[in-house]
Amino acid sequence: MQKRFDFLVIGSGIAGLSFALKVAEHGKVLIITKSNEDETNTKYAQGGIAAVWHEHDNFEKHIEDTFNAGANLCDEEAVRTVVTQAPERIKELMELGVAFDKTAEGAFDLAKEGGHTEHRILHYKDATGKEIERALLKKIHEHKNITIVNHYFAIDIITQHHLGKIVTSKTKDITCYGVYVLNIYTQEIETILAKVTCMATGGVGQVYATTTNPLIATGDGIAMVYRAKGHIQDMEFVQFHPTSLYNPGEQPSFLISEAVRGFGAVLRTGNGKEFMQKYDSRGSLAPRDIVARSIDTEMKISGDDHVFLDCRHLDRKGFIEHFPNIYNKCMSLDIDPFKQMIPVVPAAHYLCGGIIVDNNALSSILNLYAVGECARTGLHGANRLASNSLLEAVVYAHNASLDAAQKALQTSFRDDIPNWNAEGTEHAEEMILITQSLKEVQQIMSNYVGIVRSELRLQRAFDRLEIIYKENEALYEQTTISPKLCELRNLICIGYLIIKHAMRRKESIGLHYMADKG
Ligand code: FAD
Ligand code: SIN
Repeated sequence: MQKRFDFLVIGSGIAGLSFALKVAEHGKVLIITKSNEDETNTKYAQGGIAAVWHEHDNFEKHIEDTFNAGANLCDEEAVRTVVTQAPERIKELMELGVAFDKTAEGAFDLAKEGGHTEHRILHYKDATGKEIERALLKKIHEHKNITIVNHYFAIDIITQHHLGKIVTSKTKDITCYGVYVLNIYTQEIETILAKVTCMATGGVGQVYATTTNPLIATGDGIAMVYRAKGHIQDMEFVQFHPTSLYNPGEQPSFLISEAVRGFGAVLRTGNGKEFMQKYDSRGSLAPRDIVARSIDTEMKISGDDHVFLDCRHLDRKGFIEHFPNIYNKCMSLDIDPFKQMIPVVPAAHYLCGGIIVDNNALSSILNLYAVGECARTGLHGANRLASNSLLEAVVYAHNASLDAAQKALQTSFRDDIPNWNAEGTEHAEEMILITQSLKEVQQIMSNYVGIVRSELRLQRAFDRLEIIYKENEALYEQTTISPKLCELRNLICIGYLIIKHAMRRKESIGLHYMADKG
């Protein structure tokens, strides 16, 4: 059976939900999500959402900070669009019911994070993403034009390729007609046709062994678009957050928000020495690429597995009020932040690149939009400024919705789309073939394509990954589709894209640091 919707949204994080709420005024919307609806990177966002709000602040300063963090590789139109729309989009979030913290005087409690020259981060304690996800999901469930289904796994987007046409990355009119989706409950593969499809599948953190991203962050949308011959860019710019809690074995790694450093916490080595001033005059609040790299260097010098974040001098009451979850987490591990320093280590956190989109979030594939972390808008350049990503998602969801509403009016459904062909496949006998390959991919990426890279390491990673790619493609051809198998396939594709783009980039810049190029 084939299902038809005006708008199909893949993903239930801030990007997908924001887009869905806006296009729902123009037609029927289906949101699919491969896990529980709130299991998203969005839910884990701590620090907040950046916008010019304070009277001393202005758009030009936020634009300049974004460019500085991004090593001037940002796209000017994208930066201006996002920064200037920020206050309006954030007011909309508030109208939808998102609560942002206020001071005793009633003004918004604006925090500061790395790379920002002003206090401009609106937040809800240290759980901003959870609050946004809660408010958006509530509105989604109230909307009569929106259906949201959990545990539906998008496998591939449907294009002319599925009608027997030859499609290459040079084909001009590749068109998205919908998506093949595995219903995880029934194990059936359904064909969902849509006039407009919006990819909002989030990040890729799970391609690394240590990440702040939850298990859903397997780069599915980017891999789907790549397989469909859509255009992808800037995959080499993977952001490592400097301060995830050092707690071996915990997956995902628990984040110690950058806002804690904004509140005055200081990075130190095991012997108590402040070290960031050596690397950057902004100290612990330098942009993330610099801080993560400096920590990596210090860990290599000392041979330690982590450094420390010192909060002992901070105001206890204010800290607990601002960071209740971080405080409770530390205390649950017998780390009292006012008596001991918190052990921290960098962890893969955010992908700056992804599916190339224009200012309306339209990808190189017709009728396919990409919004949120899976999209490459040009905002972040070579390194994202803290708290600019929730913002990017709402701004591009808005722009995409205006364009997509028009697109849906001009588009009709196709009647000739074939259903998924599962002939010749059988159930996997050994899960170890999948789980072991996944571990290998994560190890290769962490050891050779992490914070510091080199030509030799990249080549080695490429060669190793190629072997795993061939083995897994053979397995995929013979095996009944499962989410784990598809996720592994997607992660291999993401690893390949990160390495390929890293090899192509000639200079060492932003998050792409090559030890042999300085
Ligand atoms: P997500 O919120 O990750 O949603 C992706 C959705 O796609 C999920 O519903 C998932 O199930 C679904 N999906 C994926 N693949 C498939 C598939 N094959 N089929 C069906 N569904 C699929 N940014 C900030 O600006 N400020 C912060 O303070 C901040 N803090 C962060 C803290 C942490 C710990 C993390 C991990 C990230 C943080 N970020 C922050 C980054 C920000 O949270 C993310 O970039 C943003 O939430 C991404 O939103 P999204 O909607 O694009 O994707
Ligand atoms: C944090 O709270 O440190 C995360 C902010 C971000 O990733 O933008």
